[in-house]
Amino acid sequence: MSQEMVIVLDFGGQYNQLIARRVRECNVYCEVHPYNLSLDKIKEMNPKGIIFTGGPNSVYAPESPICSKEIFEMGIPILGICYGSQLMAYLLGGKVATAPVSEYGKTEVTIDTTREMFKNVNQKTICWMSHTDYIAEAPADFTVTAITPVCPVAAMENKERKLYAVQFHPEVMHTVEGMKMLQNFVMDVCGCSGDWKMDSFVEKTIEEIREKVGKGKVLCALSGGVDSSVAAVLLAKAVGKQLTCVFVDHGLLRKNEGDEVEAVFGPEGPYDLNFIRVNAQERFYSKLAGVTEPEAKRKIIGEEFIRVFEDEAKKIGAVDFLVQGTIYPDVIESGLGKSATIKSHHNVGGLPDCVDFKEIVEPLRLLFKDEVRKAGRELGIPEYLVNRQPFPGPGLGIRIIGEVTAEKVRIVQEADYIYREEIANAGVDTGLGQYFAALTNMRSVGVMGDERTYDYAVALRAVCTSDFMTADCAQIPWEVLSKVANRIVNEVKGVNRVLYDCTSKPPATIEFE
Ligand code: XMP
Repeated sequence: MSQEMVIVLDFGGQYNQLIARRVRECNVYCEVHPYNLSLDKIKEMNPKGIIFTGGPNSVYAPESPICSKEIFEMGIPILGICYGSQLMAYLLGGKVATAPVSEYGKTEVTIDTTREMFKNVNQKTICWMSHTDYIAEAPADFTVTAITPVCPVAAMENKERKLYAVQFHPEVMHTVEGMKMLQNFVMDVCGCSGDWKMDSFVEKTIEEIREKVGKGKVLCALSGGVDSSVAAVLLAKAVGKQLTCVFVDHGLLRKNEGDEVEAVFGPEGPYDLNFIRVNAQERFYSKLAGVTEPEAKRKIIGEEFIRVFEDEAKKIGAVDFLVQGTIYPDVIESGLGKSATIKSHHNVGGLPDCVDFKEIVEPLRLLFKDEVRKAGRELGIPEYLVNRQPFPGPGLGIRIIGEVTAEKVRIVQEADYIYREEIANAGVDTGLGQYFAALTNMRSVGVMGDERTYDYAVALRAVCTSDFMTADCAQIPWEVLSKVANRIVNEVKGVNRVLYDCTSKPPATIEFE
């Protein structure tokens, strides 16, 4: 399938996928590739433009990533960003040096607004800088198109050769008019028409999957979450009955969730796939009996999940491919992976170690969460599934403090259901990153109908967050909270108190364990 494409060459910067995402926001398909992608491969891909990313290196450092100089002779428009701009200058005869002062943060840049790259941009505009080296002198055949008090060459271009470079980062939000600049590059300089949409991603990915999988058998661990659902439906469209989805109901799902997932993916649903629901509640509850330590609970649930999945995989036999709903933030998080373990996360990402597959298929690997949601809509997945809030792999097991029992699961399911229902009724869910009920392990004295009670306290949590790494406690209107509290104590047997968690993350975390 031929379609307009811009490729991003990765020189090790942190914003590589963000650049690709910005290009896709211009409705132009974009992929990230390693900086040393061969020229033959580039020719074959026939991109309308190439973007060099930033990176932590200096062009003079012995190990720094350097691409072939011939890339500039291909006649394809190139935009170098930060390290990418310095590399362009360096390879084409300019001078790169250590800046007298490193610029970091929002910086006022003065630009030449007559240039195509800067069409409709203000002459003085705030851009995000983050560099130690800079272009001290542009190559002889280049024109300087922007400066800052520190940078004599904050941007440069050679219009005839279609080579452009910016020292700042147009892709980040802090560069106020960055999106305009990228749009100018992609549409005006590269001449893209911007006719790509998420449905083209869907079509293209389906074709690629068919090619890769051929007649092979594919297995998907379906959790019912957004990512694995979208991945499963993509695969189902691509290879139909060659796909089997295994949905493990560990008895720690939200109320009705197992049935909801089955309604969409099971035999009554719209997709033609083999669906296996494993009702493994008892298996999980018995493993969890008597266990109270949060990490131990997480490990037991993760391990048991794998065992159940493995049993099913063996029954199916000779499976060639495993589908994973890995999305881009998961890739970054696992890539960084150097920080201390706060909680050992479990999701289907842990599976391939234990089951023998020829290959892993990760069709969403390059997408951000909202792009996955868009793809889900294109695939016709119901809105309530596409818009779901994140739900942790260990499920309610980490929202029940202390030992997990079937009775406690029932309490937290009921309370959570009421909470979600009232939030939806009141229409206050916009802007909430996550909200749920948890069961504290605290019992306290209450009075109901003249009788003393000694029951559990439910805690309600709601947070605003975009990255889930930090979060603020959400200010849910009091009327909503008091209605929820009333309903919970009246309708959920075993609860006589409802608390609202007002802590942010840090110091708390979003989940309770
Ligand atoms: P915390 O509690 O660490 O949660 O602030 C941050 C985000 O991660 C989710 N979470 C998990 N997701 N497997 C997952 O797939 C897990 O084990 C897990 N633990 C926490 C949590 O719901 C929140 O969105």
